Amino acid sequence: MPLVSMRQLLDEAAKGGYGVGAFNVNNMEQIQAIMEAARETKSPAIVQASRGARSYSQDNFLYHLMLAAAELYPEIPLVLHLDHGNSVETCKSAIDLGFTSVMMDGSLNPDGKTPSTFEYNVEATRKVVEMAHAKGVTVEGEIGVLGGIEDGHGAGLSGLSHVTDPAQAEEFVKLTGVDALAIAIGTSHGAYKFAQKPTGETLKMGRLIEIHERLPHTHLVMHGSSSVPQDLQDIINKYGGKLRPTFGVPVEEIQLGIRNGVRKVNVDTDNRLAITGAIRKVFFETPEKFDPRDYLKPAREAMKKVVAQRMTQFGQAGHVGDYAQIPLAEMARRYAAA
Ligand code: G3H
Ligand code: 13P
Ligand code: ZN
Repeated sequence: MPLVSMRQLLDEAAKGGYGVGAFNVNNMEQIQAIMEAARETKSPAIVQASRGARSYSQDNFLYHLMLAAAELYPEIPLVLHLDHGNSVETCKSAIDLGFTSVMMDGSLNPDGKTPSTFEYNVEATRKVVEMAHAKGVTVEGEIGVLGGIEDGHGAGLSGLSHVTDPAQAEEFVKLTGVDALAIAIGTSHGAYKFAQKPTGETLKMGRLIEIHERLPHTHLVMHGSSSVPQDLQDIINKYGGKLRPTFGVPVEEIQLGIRNGVRKVNVDTDNRLAITGAIRKVFFETPEKFDPRDYLKPAREAMKKVVAQRMTQFGQAGHVGDYAQIPLAEMARRYAAA
């Protein structure tokens, strides 16, 4: 089916009480891995691209790969989402290209590093909502600031520096009209999230529940949700990598979030680990090989396995048939009428 809005997927997920993984991509193999996992588990799919991914793939390669995905997997409701848009202009260029959903991350200034003011965030996000909804495109906003900088996007703070204030979250949704809201509850981007298995002190699920109680109809988004599984760390280190000991977000905490309003779960690092481990293994065991397919195929397969597992754990598996495509023009009419 043609690319659909993220709002349609998240509304349906809310009805069904499940979460939807949003997986980052930069290239063809990652898109293929997600589509194969979606087909195998019968899941709707959200594919997301950061500014870095858009620049790496020169936008058009990415967009046309997504059109190929929609064509080759017609049974999968599929969303193309901009991850961490840093300005109104970045969101506009994504919408112009054909993204069906954008994140305006106004929690940071346009430099993507320094925390912004509440007023700036509201103003920038509101402008994006106005522009996007006129075209039926979904908008995710963010209030509070994620930790981490190792993967390029973030304030370089610990996950607990700017945890979301529930009253401010409520105000933000009222003032902007966003469809989905990313919140900060102690997670950070990248592999190094927690020095030990997180507790209620370091991963504030209680805060998430409080926010959901205030905003029961807003789709919540958990960023920095890789679980950084030990077995994926071990493969990398076994074959010559050098990861320091680290802990991610346990899947059972994400499932608790899903029972409390989380509808979109962002995962990038786990797939990066799976891909890197698979490639390292081929290089280590068969150093004579030099055909890229010899290591990209196992890499794609390793990512597919992680994505399929997350799709099952988040509950979206089996829901592929719940969707009759709502065209973006119809979404725009609904926003205008609301
Ligand atoms: O937001 C972080 C995602 O993992 C994307 O990372 O900016 O390195 O593409 P990136
Ligand atoms: P991870 O680094 O935990 O995979 O988070 C990805 C993310 O939040 C993308 O926006
Ligand atoms: Zn993120």
